[in-house]
Amino acid sequence: MGETDITDTRRRIASHLVGRERELELALAAVAAGRDLVLEGPPGTSKTTMLKAITEEWGIPLLFVEGNADLTPAKLVGHHNPARVLREDYSADNFVAGPLVEAMRQGGFLYIEEFNRAPEDTLNTLLTAMADRAVEVPRVGRVEAQPTFRVIASMNPFDNVGTTRLSTSVSDRLNRIVVGYQDAEAERGIVALRTGLHGELSERIIPDAVAVTRATREHPDVRQGSSVRGAIDCALVAHELFELRGLPAPTQEEYQDTVFDAMLVALSGRIHVDEAAETTPERVLREIWEDRFVLEPARADPG
Ligand SMILES: Nc1ncnc2c1ncn2[C@@H]1O[C@H](COP(=O)(O)OP(=O)(O)OP(=O)(O)O)[C@@H](O)[C@H]1O
Ligand SMILES: [Mg+2]
Repeated sequence: MGETDITDTRRRIASHLVGRERELELALAAVAAGRDLVLEGPPGTSKTTMLKAITEEWGIPLLFVEGNADLTPAKLVGHHNPARVLREDYSADNFVAGPLVEAMRQGGFLYIEEFNRAPEDTLNTLLTAMADRAVEVPRVGRVEAQPTFRVIASMNPFDNVGTTRLSTSVSDRLNRIVVGYQDAEAERGIVALRTGLHGELSERIIPDAVAVTRATREHPDVRQGSSVRGAIDCALVAHELFELRGLPAPTQEEYQDTVFDAMLVALSGRIHVDEAAETTPERVLREIWEDRFVLEPARADPG
């Protein structure tokens, strides 16, 4: 890709994103260099959004696969339709391509979420495909990848359920970009963009939804807090509650009570409390709410 080409590309992709200039630049450089990539970051940190923006800009498919113990090499590569095999015997024609072969043929990005949950033999199949840019499919033959084929893996660094640690043979073959949570201003921008909410009341709801969501990530009793998805939903639910309760101009008390209800709906299922802490998501949210609506205002306006 030419120099101005890729700078233009970056600018156009950036217009679909709030912030993330650096991560986008790094990801774009890696894929434009023809390399495969692992994106490491907690849920809701723009991984899919960035890849969608890149593949849409390039006009190529983005194929999703979830990495888990059931992701066998056969599922990744494809299988022969058993009914047709009985009638016609094996042939290239009755082969049903899996996402790997599909992505190679179409020159798409194969996006493997929770990559580290996939079994070892599946990872090995993938590594071979990445190294050779081709796979050998029994009774079908060799499938060569189109030049835009890439493997993009994602991993959640907090994930400790059913994960295999990546062996050095795997990690040595991948480039890696770490993504974290964005700052509060960017998250407010994302919530405004994704909810489309505007107006005086929404201008209060959005910063509050973002602040309480961010606080779930800092709370000492929480193992993993909510992503910006929780803030998006909290703002939307609060907005609907004000409608339902007929409160277009709520009092301070009505406002904070309604926001608390929205927090329960949007956030209680999204926070994972530390087992040793003997608390509940509801209690954690109550503390966060008190801090935001009772203690913080008192600190800002003492006496
Ligand atoms: N930088 C951003 N600009 C605009 N919207 C964003 C941005 N980051 C996240 N979002 C929005 O937040 C939500 C979650 O983002 P996304 O799906 O990209 O996260 P993810 O990293 O792929 O998460 P997961 O690991 O759970 O798949 C989406 O609704 C997306 O539209
Ligand atoms: Mg995603």
